[in-house]
Amino acid sequence: MDFIEWSESMSVGNPSIDQDHKIIVKLINQLYAQIGTMEDQKALGSALNTLIDYTLYHFSREERVMLACRYPSFEDHKRQHEKLTDQVADIAHRFFEKKDDIVQDELLDFLKNWLMNHILKQDIGFRPYAENNPEVLGITRSLQTDSEQPDMVDTDDLIPKSVNWNETAILIVSKSQNFSNIIASILEIADVREIQQYSHADDAMQSLESHKPNLIVYGWKQDDQEAIPFIERLREIKGGSIAGIPVLLISAREERGAMESGLVAGATHCIEEPIGIQTFFKAAVKAINQ
Ligand SMILES: [Fe+2]
Ligand SMILES: [Fe+2]
Repeated sequence: MDFIEWSESMSVGNPSIDQDHKIIVKLINQLYAQIGTMEDQKALGSALNTLIDYTLYHFSREERVMLACRYPSFEDHKRQHEKLTDQVADIAHRFFEKKDDIVQDELLDFLKNWLMNHILKQDIGFRPYAENNPEVLGITRSLQTDSEQPDMVDTDDLIPKSVNWNETAILIVSKSQNFSNIIASILEIADVREIQQYSHADDAMQSLESHKPNLIVYGWKQDDQEAIPFIERLREIKGGSIAGIPVLLISAREERGAMESGLVAGATHCIEEPIGIQTFFKAAVKAINQ
């Protein structure tokens, strides 16, 4: 069961901000699922970074909507965002420094009591100003990733525009379902046209016979012996253009030289976990454009 369930009572009367909050709830649930398994500290770090990246991006979007609807408590609300930002930065810092259970408990507590409280109690306060407000419509349109006014889209700082994401098909391979879901959530933020997820390299390889993605994202986990043979086999496929599909290898392996062996096998680009939204997209663009 999910840690937090989205309900209509959380609606602030603005579709873009509601959508943001739904994404945040989903990312919190993924982080919770990751803490529950205790199997993979690096994936937990990726889930945390992803949530922080999206939350900070969301705060600035929400502030733009509040300004547009002349919300009288704007200044106070902005200060609350600043306070939450400081708190999350402090928890993240301690998490990455210490990696202890106390920080994990504190993290869950923070997410549930502070972030959700903020959405349910403070954000809801601007509902009467945002709902059915024609002045807010323009700014709402500009906040949508598929906006018809591309120069007004402000997703550029989070999602690079150099790739046409809604015409892109991406295949994810990872033995960790949680990590695979984190990547899928990041791709959904960019409205990626098609996302396929496989937990076994062989199944992913087989799917290539009928389906050619624009990018393969491989989450290389500690116990995964299939990544290197998968990339080598891919590069040896004769005929057609399958062998040339870019592969972004995201390595959670501790041993030295892991990334180098991925590149030697034929990975297009290789980064280490933990990732976040910005680091992921930067690497994905590099792999696609190489
Ligand atoms: Fe919010
Ligand atoms: Fe807020």
